[in-house]
Amino acid sequence: MSRRRKVYEGKAKILYEGPEPGTLIQYFKDDATANNGKKHTTIVGKGILNNRICEHIMVQLASIGVPTHFIRRLNMREQLIRAVEIIPLEVVVRNVAAGSIATRLGIEEGTSLPRSIIEFYYKNDALNDPLVTEEHVTAFGWASPHEIDDIMAIALRINDFMSGLFAGVGIKLVDFKIEFGRMYENDMMRIVLADEISPDSCRLWDMTTSEKLDKDRFRRDMGGVSEAYQEVARRLGIAPDLESRIHVVPKVVN
Ligand code: TMP
Repeated sequence: MSRRRKVYEGKAKILYEGPEPGTLIQYFKDDATANNGKKHTTIVGKGILNNRICEHIMVQLASIGVPTHFIRRLNMREQLIRAVEIIPLEVVVRNVAAGSIATRLGIEEGTSLPRSIIEFYYKNDALNDPLVTEEHVTAFGWASPHEIDDIMAIALRINDFMSGLFAGVGIKLVDFKIEFGRMYENDMMRIVLADEISPDSCRLWDMTTSEKLDKDRFRRDMGGVSEAYQEVARRLGIAPDLESRIHVVPKVVN
């Protein structure tokens, strides 16, 4: 068997060269990191769950006309995606105050925001992904004003769609982080949703109990991370076959 060429390895995913030009294989690891990699552990089965949940969301977003890099899921841990030129921004959409906005602006966690807020963070580990404004984004050429307009419009559509999707299964979409890329087709360029959407990149709270069903369980040492991700998958009606597969492997603790 020939070895695939690794194109990039991040904290939670690996990208391999795809079977055709312009494609990549996105592999979901079980690694979990927080605080820009300072905190690290392995959560058995997380990659499998994120792959499935991400597929479910990407397929549905595509069905309402949101352009994405996703082509299809290949197996338990991998999906085939289109290669895109990643825009170096983490785009965060918030509906309810939590995490960094709660700390930065002194807003109590759980407070509904007056409207959905979009924030941009410059993707740069050495700088700890700082919050930046549209002025920085355009002045430094990370994205053009037109691209920012596209990104914001797509981000709000994603927020509307996902808020409804999760509300339908009793989950409040508090906030999420997405990334975008440029896809070139002939002489055309378009902005597409890239990276992943999963409980690693969203805050998801049970609507009645406010129980956290996302990566904050790991960030805040609450335990039950894999169980929370399984609960999200179960409520979305996916991966009924996963439970047995995830528990066959003994749990690795730190
Ligand atoms: P924050 O409140 O820490 O700024 O996070 C906002 C949202 O973005 C939350 O859903 C978690 C997600 N996020 C990531 O996916 N990756 C990151 O590196 C950070 C800082 C946040």
